[in-house]
Amino acid sequence: ADFQSIKTKVEDGIALIELNRPDVLNAISRGMVTEIRSAFETFDKHDAVKAIVLTGNEKAFAAGADIDEMMEDDAVTLELLNQFKDWDQLHTIKKPVIGAVSGYCFGGGFELALCCDILFASEKAQFGFPEIKLGVMPGAGGTVKLTKLMGPKNALEWLWLGEPMTAKEAQKHGIINRIVAPELVVEEAMKFARTIADKAPLSLRLIKESVRYAADHSVQDGMQLERKNFYLLFSSEDQKEGMKAFTEKRYPHFKGK
Ligand code: HXC
Repeated sequence: ADFQSIKTKVEDGIALIELNRPDVLNAISRGMVTEIRSAFETFDKHDAVKAIVLTGNEKAFAAGADIDEMMEDDAVTLELLNQFKDWDQLHTIKKPVIGAVSGYCFGGGFELALCCDILFASEKAQFGFPEIKLGVMPGAGGTVKLTKLMGPKNALEWLWLGEPMTAKEAQKHGIINRIVAPELVVEEAMKFARTIADKAPLSLRLIKESVRYAADHSVQDGMQLERKNFYLLFSSEDQKEGMKAFTEKRYPHFKGK
């Protein structure tokens, strides 16, 4: 596809999406979100793609939503624009999404990173919600997700102060999975993606669905969905193959059905 604000390629079954507005530290325009949504949807449907890696550049994952673009907006224009439709759809992707974060990861950029299933960050990455300094607040899930990750007291401290947190602090709060040397972030994310690309695709998919659901629902409700998904996998050829391969002491060949 012909994208303006992102670059994409597919390598060994892994789709790499790079945010590409380097002059403005990858500030996220509405057009960029539409392109990310479109790339996610394309790769989600594409059989050859097993996982998606989302990254920026070494200086910035993304320094927030594009301030120039929204500074003159009013409430009615925003309601009619309905830009969060694209943002909401970023959460409907079934394949694993691995984020690789270097440099600034602020505001909408942080919210975009929080849409990823797994996050690897450079030891020099900085995460934050500086919206308070602009007289606004996060609008793409920042207050909600930070609260779920670190609890209301910690979340308020970060959101009210608007100061950046280091990769170490982000890891302490369960925001990122791993801290990696700056030059290795994308490589390590790709390596992780390739490792899970070999696993049974339907298992990956239903585990993601179950975990995401569990994060937002009661233990009881979560276990109901888990059970249904567990049963569902017994209708797959991959379950028969996986268990047969075990008894035959050989590697399974999964087909994703
Ligand atoms: C538009 C931006 C931008 C942004 C940086 N730039 N961030 N343009 N929107 N969010 C532009 C600058 O204007 C500048 O353009 C160029 O990128 C380089 O930025 P500098 O500020 O010169 O770089 P530096 O001094 O290194 O400072 C880096 C920085 C700073 C600390 C990250 O750029 C910064 O504070 N940016 C804004 C961060 C922010 O407030 N984000 C939240 C946005 S609100 P020129 O043309 O001067 O070279 C938000 C709400 C989301 O995200 C709501 C849901 C969608």
